[in-house]
Amino acid sequence: MNFLNQLNPMFGEGGGFWFPRAASTTAYHVDSLFDLILWICIVFFVIIVAVMLYFMIAYRRREGVEAVRTATHNDVLEITWSVIPTLLIFVIFAKGFAGYLDMRTPPENTYIVNVYAKKWGWTFKYPNGVISSNLHVPAGVPVELKMQSEDVIHSFFVPAFRVKQDIVPGRIATTWFEATMTEEDGQMVEYDLFCTEYCGQQHADMKAKAVVHERKSFDCWLVYERQKLLDMPPIDLGKILYEQRGCVGCHSIDGTRKVGPSFNKTFGQEHKFSNADPVVGDEEYVRESIRYPQRKVREGYGGVMPAYPESQLEMLELDALIAYIKSVNEDEQIRDEAFGN
Ligand code: CUA
Repeated sequence: MNFLNQLNPMFGEGGGFWFPRAASTTAYHVDSLFDLILWICIVFFVIIVAVMLYFMIAYRRREGVEAVRTATHNDVLEITWSVIPTLLIFVIFAKGFAGYLDMRTPPENTYIVNVYAKKWGWTFKYPNGVISSNLHVPAGVPVELKMQSEDVIHSFFVPAFRVKQDIVPGRIATTWFEATMTEEDGQMVEYDLFCTEYCGQQHADMKAKAVVHERKSFDCWLVYERQKLLDMPPIDLGKILYEQRGCVGCHSIDGTRKVGPSFNKTFGQEHKFSNADPVVGDEEYVRESIRYPQRKVREGYGGVMPAYPESQLEMLELDALIAYIKSVNEDEQIRDEAFGN
């Protein structure tokens, strides 16, 4: 690996003394650049301090010797100590820039995972519709993350991958990495995943795991999770989506006032609009409100509620959400009847 790493066992093969374990192809570049800069600093520190000490001792003040100053300047020395550091800066820049370009440019045919960040948790969505609160990735495959924030600025950080990317609301932030795995890891390894941009009271709790699977074990995991999703009663799936996909931020289920209407006041209620005729809440109304919230309300909720097209919320998921909202309404009706309202 890195020649400097071999010089000093302290560094190991990426990671080692200074860093957490290196678990991606990017990590190697980042660590070797760090080592290069560190070693340049160590070498010059030693040379400068040694020369300084020598001069301090050799030319110290002595009894009976008068201090005279003879040297004015030295062209060769001055050019040398200007040119060498300049060249070193170019080397550091070139290496850093190459690494930066590599980090910013995902290769073709990446495996894409959608990431949703919100106060204070992560949701990861895979191409087959599976969702999870920890990030699962296959080893040896370039993975591209398409990240969105549903509220404030968050930042995705997996120290072991040396990957960090801010997520600004209203934009899609992307980053990529290729996780690596050793024989000893077996079928899977877990790493810490943090939010590294202060995002409010529970910022410190906004963490998850990055789980690296061996290729086959990842495929099994995906199939297994997908099956779990399909087997799940729609109401249960709806509840998970309600909590994990951000609905809970604006819609309560018990009438508590939040940004959007409470879900228990949806079905069978009359909804009034400034730019459309009133509608009695039915399934079609709820579907439209989720898919195309702008259609009936151009101001107010319309500006806040994001649209959820098929690409973001599959039919299966929309059905599940509706089943859940319906169940919340039914609970409410039962309660109303019990209290004689
Ligand atoms: Cu999200 Cu800090």
